[in-house]
Amino acid sequence: MSEPEPKHDKPTESGAASANDGVGRTLVVALVLCVVCSLVVSTAAVGLHPLQEANRELDRQRNILLAAGLYTPERKVADLFGSVETRWVDLSSGRFVDSPDRDAREERISIPAARDVAGIKTRPRYVEAYVVREGGTLHSIILPIWGLGLYSTLHGYVALAGDGNTVQGLRFYQQGETPGLGGEVDNPRWLDLWPGKRVYADDGNPRLRLVKGGVDPNAADAAYAVDALTGATLTSRGISRMLQYWFGEDGYGPFLAGLRKGRL
Ligand SMILES: Cc1cc2nc3c(=O)[nH]c(=O)nc-3n(C[C@H](O)[C@H](O)[C@H](O)COP(=O)(O)O)c2cc1C
Repeated sequence: MSEPEPKHDKPTESGAASANDGVGRTLVVALVLCVVCSLVVSTAAVGLHPLQEANRELDRQRNILLAAGLYTPERKVADLFGSVETRWVDLSSGRFVDSPDRDAREERISIPAARDVAGIKTRPRYVEAYVVREGGTLHSIILPIWGLGLYSTLHGYVALAGDGNTVQGLRFYQQGETPGLGGEVDNPRWLDLWPGKRVYADDGNPRLRLVKGGVDPNAADAAYAVDALTGATLTSRGISRMLQYWFGEDGYGPFLAGLRKGRL
C-alpha cells in the first residue's frame, strides 16, 4: 500500500486575494480608529480649554489670597476674592492709573542687560496689583513678581502690609524648578519664614534677600533675610535677584516709596 501523499496547500489566487482583503480591512480599521481617537482628543482639548483657563485663574486668585494670609479653605475663592480690589500701577510714574486699554496692557519695555538682575529681558509698562482695605485703612498690597531661577521663570506674588515695607507673605503660582530642590519654593515651612520680614532698609534701598546656610536670628540684618533653600543655591539666588529687581528703581521702588509717604 502506498503512503498517502502529504497535502501541500498551494496558495490559490482566491486565497491570496482574501489575505489581501484581511490586511486591507485591518488598515482601514486602524485608520478609522486613528481618526476617531484624534477627533475625540482634539474635541476634548478644545472643549476643556475654557475650563482649564478658569481653573488657572482660580489658582492665581488663591495664591494672591494666600500671599496676603486671606485664604481659608472653608470659603470659595471667588467669594474671598470679592474683597480684593484690582488696580493698575504705572511702573514709570510709580502711581495708580485707570485701567489701561488692551494695547497699553501689552506694551513692554526692554530692560538693558546691565539692569536685568531678574533675567526677564522685558517688563510691562503697567502691572496689575491687588489692594485689600480694612475699615478704610490699607491692609495689604499684593504685587506680582517674576524672574529666572535655575530651570524656569518663577511667577509669584508678594503681599506687603499697609506700611509698604513689611512682608505678609509670598507665593509662587508657576515654576518649573526641580521638585525637592528648587521646587521647595512651594514648601509651606519655607513660605512660613516670610511673614514679618522687611523689604527696605532705612536708606530706602531694597535689602531683603535669601541667605545661604540659614539666617542668624541675632544678626543685625535678620529682619531682611530669609533662609536660602537647601541644595538649591541657584534658585535661591534667582529669588534674591527677583526681589532686588522688583523692589528696586525699575520695579515697584517708586510706587512703594510713594505708598510709604502716604500716597496711594
Ligand atoms: C538633577 C538636578 C536638579 C537640580 N535642580 C536644582 C534646582 O531646581 N535648583 C537649584 O538651585 N539647584 C538645583 N540643582 C543643583 C545645582 O546644580 C547646584 O548644584 C546647586 O544649586 C548648588 O546648591 P548648594 O550649594 O546649596 O548645594 C540640581 C542638580 C541636579 C543634579
